[in-house]
Amino acid sequence: MTDTAPRTDDHRTEAPVETVTFTVNGVEVTAPKGQLVIEAAADAGTYIPHFCYHPRMRPVGMCRMCIVEIDTGRGPTLQPSCMIPVADAMVVDTRSPVTTKAQDGVLEFLLINHPLDCPVCDKGGECPLQDQTYAYGPGESRFVEEKRHFEKPIPISDLVLLDRERCILCDRCTRFADEVAGDTLIHFQDRGGQTQVNTFPGHPFASYFSGNTVQICPVGALTASPYRFKARPWDVAKDESTCTTCAVGCRTTVEVSRNRVLRMSGIDVDPVNWGWLCDKGRFGFEAVGDGRLTGPLLRRDEASELAPAPWSEALKVAGDALRWSRKTKPDGIAVLGGARLTNESAYAWAKLAKGVLGTDNVDAQLGDGLPPELVFGLPRATIDDVCAEGGTVLMLAPDLKEELPVLYLRLRDAVVHHGVTVVELSPQATTTTPLAAASLRHRPGEAGLVARALVGLDGGADPLDGDVTAARALLERADHLTIVLGRASLADGPSPIADAMAAVLETYPAAHVLTALRRGNVHGALDMGLSPGVLPGHVTLDEGRQWFTEAWGQVPEARGMDATGILNAAAAGAIDVLVLLGADPVADFPDHDLARRALEATAMVIAVDTHRNDSVELATVVLAAAGPHEVVGTTTNIEGRVSTVAGVVTPPGTARADWQLAAELAYRVGADLGLESEAGTWAEIERVAPSYAGITAELLASPAGRDGVLMPLTPELAAALDGSRVTIASRRSDMDPEAAQAALRAAAASTDEERQREQLAAKAEQSAEEAREVAEQLAAEGEAGAAGEGTATAHRPALLAFRPGAPTELPAVDAYGYRLVATRTLYDRGTRNRHSPSLAGLARTSQLRLNPIDADTLGVVAGARLRVSSPRGAVEVELALDPGLPRGSAGLHVNHGGGDPADLIDVTSPVTTVKVETLR
Ligand code: SF4
Ligand code: SF4
Ligand code: FES
Repeated sequence: MTDTAPRTDDHRTEAPVETVTFTVNGVEVTAPKGQLVIEAAADAGTYIPHFCYHPRMRPVGMCRMCIVEIDTGRGPTLQPSCMIPVADAMVVDTRSPVTTKAQDGVLEFLLINHPLDCPVCDKGGECPLQDQTYAYGPGESRFVEEKRHFEKPIPISDLVLLDRERCILCDRCTRFADEVAGDTLIHFQDRGGQTQVNTFPGHPFASYFSGNTVQICPVGALTASPYRFKARPWDVAKDESTCTTCAVGCRTTVEVSRNRVLRMSGIDVDPVNWGWLCDKGRFGFEAVGDGRLTGPLLRRDEASELAPAPWSEALKVAGDALRWSRKTKPDGIAVLGGARLTNESAYAWAKLAKGVLGTDNVDAQLGDGLPPELVFGLPRATIDDVCAEGGTVLMLAPDLKEELPVLYLRLRDAVVHHGVTVVELSPQATTTTPLAAASLRHRPGEAGLVARALVGLDGGADPLDGDVTAARALLERADHLTIVLGRASLADGPSPIADAMAAVLETYPAAHVLTALRRGNVHGALDMGLSPGVLPGHVTLDEGRQWFTEAWGQVPEARGMDATGILNAAAAGAIDVLVLLGADPVADFPDHDLARRALEATAMVIAVDTHRNDSVELATVVLAAAGPHEVVGTTTNIEGRVSTVAGVVTPPGTARADWQLAAELAYRVGADLGLESEAGTWAEIERVAPSYAGITAELLASPAGRDGVLMPLTPELAAALDGSRVTIASRRSDMDPEAAQAALRAAAASTDEERQREQLAAKAEQSAEEAREVAEQLAAEGEAGAAGEGTATAHRPALLAFRPGAPTELPAVDAYGYRLVATRTLYDRGTRNRHSPSLAGLARTSQLRLNPIDADTLGVVAGARLRVSSPRGAVEVELALDPGLPRGSAGLHVNHGGGDPADLIDVTSPVTTVKVETLR
């Protein structure tokens, strides 16, 4: 059965302190009061067949498959076990003759109209209806009447097909659309025998989450067009992995046949994705096999085209350039990108750049992120923290549904079902706005000023829209405040959001922060040191100098430049060698003009990538890299959760893993990275990167690490992860047994889950004892043993902290211009979408969005052609009216065809002002 049974209890089932005792098939069982019979029986090892019950949605009792005999004192009766909570002295019989006869009858009834086209149905071999008919159903049917027929299949979206006659009306897909996604686009229609699931006329199932309905449909009524007729369960090999399309890090299974990825399905991981995936993450795997670079390319002279070359020649050209620059001007080398890479590969490149080449001009973010001090210098929140019952969340972030879709699902659930209060501060309305208790609009660039007013500090500015007093009151009465922090508009530099964060922390210093950065493994890449001024494991260059000099041999003397600085320097001719590590700044940097000038002015551009793109076309050397699902390793998500990625297909042609390319280039410049495998690289990361201490490969591979491990690994986390306690204790030279015991007790006292509390309390004693033993052992061996090889005298450096800078100076408001708001959408024209045939057609064409009053003032209506210009350039686009945009602002989506804000943005300014003119 492909059901997404959660690995932990249903989030919806409160963890009651009280328990009840009842019997299942004669065996006494104790369960939390309020738990449903079907769940309590499952926990006790008794499976009750079901179709409509789903642990992540409210029970509806639609299918009656779960009926069992339940006696609550008034005699046994048949009742749906998915609707009945357990009670003291209840007697449940799932095997009585009455129960089995009823189950048999339900299945016979469900099959009256079912077409039984199992041989051609995609669900065949993994179909709960098929399996349960074999296990619990009748041997034959008494019904000989004609079955109902519908046209089949009908597309209900670009990705999902519906065979209505296979539908057993379980209400899972419709509940998902309504309850979980909030996209009420499919529903039951008609009555009686003609009842069917369908979309409404003219409204396709255009949901970012439509693939989840395919996964949870218990029959083959909903199928995904990318998988239809592709394979059967016995044709495919399956492995667990993590989606790296965005930074949420949803856990998935990856199914492969004949060296091609065929399907991805969500795994129910309680702290992260609950079994859900967005459609980009689910179907974007097609890009892995499409249009790939299969070997190196070389431009042999300036006038020639890129042409295939042997690896030896390509690596020699790249290596010679790096060797020469290393000798003459190390800071003439720069590395951009790295968010596509695994942690192991990112570490290898950080070690090459900072430890071998001696440059700190390294940035995994492409002008669309946050300074590293904000990313890991603030107290960190998890997704569960943000979604905690009754909490308050301040959104200073981009539109989550567009950039981190499954985080949006989690937040939506928290608001709708768990009383979470959202206060939003943004330059335009987002998909979170309808969920927010208060939503304030700020003028682009003024996030910091409005945040000051919001938290009651002097020197603030009122919002353009929204009740700041009411919003402030919501924050003031918050018991538990978390902040989701990111770049709401790429036309605003990162400094206004840093100002806003500084203001909020001034009033709410205990608030925790979840950073909403979008790119796949951007958090891991930053953690590994692919950012200026930092070294692996959340330490600054200065703090970590001694530690990493011992580990690597050298580190750069001074802080280098970020992506904007690197591109400015390159455009001015100050960069000799620019390495693009899965980065396409020409298409992806918020200032296209600067990016193109930079690449054209750089003598040697080395592109390490999976596909050809605009920036690759300007490179001298192109090194073909292995992509997602082709390399094993680890990734780190927005929470700092480290999880594994599976390598399940071989890279095309002779493409190589990024860490191997780093090691090869190090060899060409006369150095040895000392990295020979992913496992060896991870062992080195665990040893030298302070915030990754204790997160061993063994821990990640253990059942406790299966859902990912939060970094840094604290004693209390270690205690909560079975089997990891000795590991963390043995890695930390400063481990104090008394402190460990206190921390473990504190963790035990603070957790909400009674059961967890009991477990932790029991483990605390044991852990303290183990920690004491290890500390004694360490004292005997000296600190070198704890720190690892090559770090005999250095002490593990302290982690980075955020220190607010001077407030941003903003230009005066131009009464004749519009401040630009540049935002992303899920389906843009990026590599992943362009090379996924199923997603490519979903990208929209760019439109300029204006407030209807501004459009009226200009004398234009929706659909008018407009010229939008800034000192950087001009685009021509169609007008769309958007009341969610305040007056005086103009909105454009990034990387849509036909008018990109990156042609207008000047990244050296905190805001971009544009002129809008009508085209005759
Ligand atoms: Fe259930 Fe599938 Fe029918 Fe939806 S289409 S109601 S999930 S059987
Ligand atoms: Fe992948 Fe992000 Fe979508 Fe999750 S939300 S499936 S990590 S793209
Ligand atoms: Fe209980 Fe459907 S699973 S009625």
